[in-house]
Amino acid sequence: MAETLLRDMPAFKALEAHYSEIEKKHMRELFAADPKRGETFAISAEGLYFDYSKNRITAETLKLLLQLAEESGLKAKLDAMFSGEKINITEDRAVLHVALRSTPDQVINLDGVNQVPLVHEVLDAMSAFSEKIRSGEWKGYTGKPIKNIVNIGIGGSDLGPVMAYEALRHYTQRDLTFRFVSNVDSTDFVEATHDLKADETLFIVASKTFTTLETMTNANSARAWALAQLKDDAAIAKHFVALSTNAAAVSKFGIDTANMFGFWDWVGGRYSMDSAIGLSTMLAIGPDQFKELLAGFHSMDVHFQTTELSKNLPVILGLLTVWYNDFFNAQTVAVLPYEQYLKRFPAYLQQLTMESNGKHVTLSGHHVDYETGPIFWGEPGTNGQHSFYQLIHQGTKLIPCDFIGFFETLNPLGDHHKFLMSNVFAQAEALAFGKTPDELKAEKVPEALIPHKTFEGNRPSNVILADKLTPEILGKLVALYEHSVFVQGCIWQIDSFDQWGVELGKVLANRIIPELSSDSELKHDSSTNKLIELYRAKNK
Ligand code: F6P
Repeated sequence: MAETLLRDMPAFKALEAHYSEIEKKHMRELFAADPKRGETFAISAEGLYFDYSKNRITAETLKLLLQLAEESGLKAKLDAMFSGEKINITEDRAVLHVALRSTPDQVINLDGVNQVPLVHEVLDAMSAFSEKIRSGEWKGYTGKPIKNIVNIGIGGSDLGPVMAYEALRHYTQRDLTFRFVSNVDSTDFVEATHDLKADETLFIVASKTFTTLETMTNANSARAWALAQLKDDAAIAKHFVALSTNAAAVSKFGIDTANMFGFWDWVGGRYSMDSAIGLSTMLAIGPDQFKELLAGFHSMDVHFQTTELSKNLPVILGLLTVWYNDFFNAQTVAVLPYEQYLKRFPAYLQQLTMESNGKHVTLSGHHVDYETGPIFWGEPGTNGQHSFYQLIHQGTKLIPCDFIGFFETLNPLGDHHKFLMSNVFAQAEALAFGKTPDELKAEKVPEALIPHKTFEGNRPSNVILADKLTPEILGKLVALYEHSVFVQGCIWQIDSFDQWGVELGKVLANRIIPELSSDSELKHDSSTNKLIELYRAKNK
């Protein structure tokens, strides 16, 4: 059956007409018209309180957005994902990250094989290994326990592990040191290892493909670094483990596949932090708390699959993103965690959202005639308030914001938490309602300053709150965004699970590598030729 193009959908057309009305409305009016708006547009579910009342929407907007989800076949598409259909059509793969957090009694068949026992087998192996390292039972080559763990990986094999380690630091075993090496820039490896001793260090080489240039270069340097101190190839088995789908390449690298924790091609890199790629997380917080993290993911999966669309957290979050992206022409979304432990959460979301939905053709290969994935960015509050918030409040761009905060802090200290959270509430309030020239006049602000001090307001935000940051809540938050990305991709009719756009740069870099250390004739454009010539001249 031919797909109905997004612009031809009745709900999309209706939203276009509706937008021209909403565009003129201020949130001040919307709140005045409904004294209970703050509660009407809020969902309390899964331990999260999601206040989306400070958005430029009415009940009619929501109705039309939900209709758009229905017309886009969201329900059928999400069921197809959960049941293992090969919805990543350009790679002919299933998309089953939900199986990674399945309960042992579930059955998720792929090509006639239930994947759930396979997942739990790996989890059990990871747990046994983690216990050995954490207890000191696992001895390094010289008989000492492991004190340092260095995860080597990039993209999904780094951002999930590093984000989760930082997010859950409060729950980690503090006598273990964790470092994360991703960049092929040697500085990353050198700085991560400069104060470590090889006989107390475990390297985790995390790579789905086990071919990624950055990771293999760092892994080779790690092996050379370890061998320079330990002077015996037999030491590698005690100090290196691999997380991969590619057993042959792991073996070729010299890591015994007995020390490999596997996963499957149906786990996308950016959806892999709860697969074997999460080994560093499990080492840090222990198997039991890792299970709580998985339980959080799972419970959001169930919510997404079973909750009616109008009360469904990822659905509403995803539809709001579509609303601003496609109708208001907003180019970005700011994610602003008011929780220091979530400092790498925006960076994690950048890969999740932008590698997933940075696509310009539909599933059937047609160039889209609407906007797809917005730019995600952010920093922890309140730091952002003293740098880029000026533009969000008074610039010319519309930047929908997601504020994330917690009722309780994990580190009570004087009035810090009160000050922190007052800023979440104040920022969302200021963005929505602003400050009018009349209010400024009443405050006797000089006439000349009134334009400068006016806050137009009407700038949208979501506020997402939870009791406190726990492994379970982190799982829920990540799954919330994962499924929100799915909702957006479904509306935009794109393949959210491939990433062909990263290939060309890799191919060209591979072509340039030998050229940097030879005098061969250069056949690039005049700019690239000159840049390479300058490099050659400085590195003779
Ligand atoms: O280049 C992009 C990418 O393929 C990501 O999708 C992936 O997370 C990353 O590289 C790392 O890949 P791998 O785990 O295979 O080393």
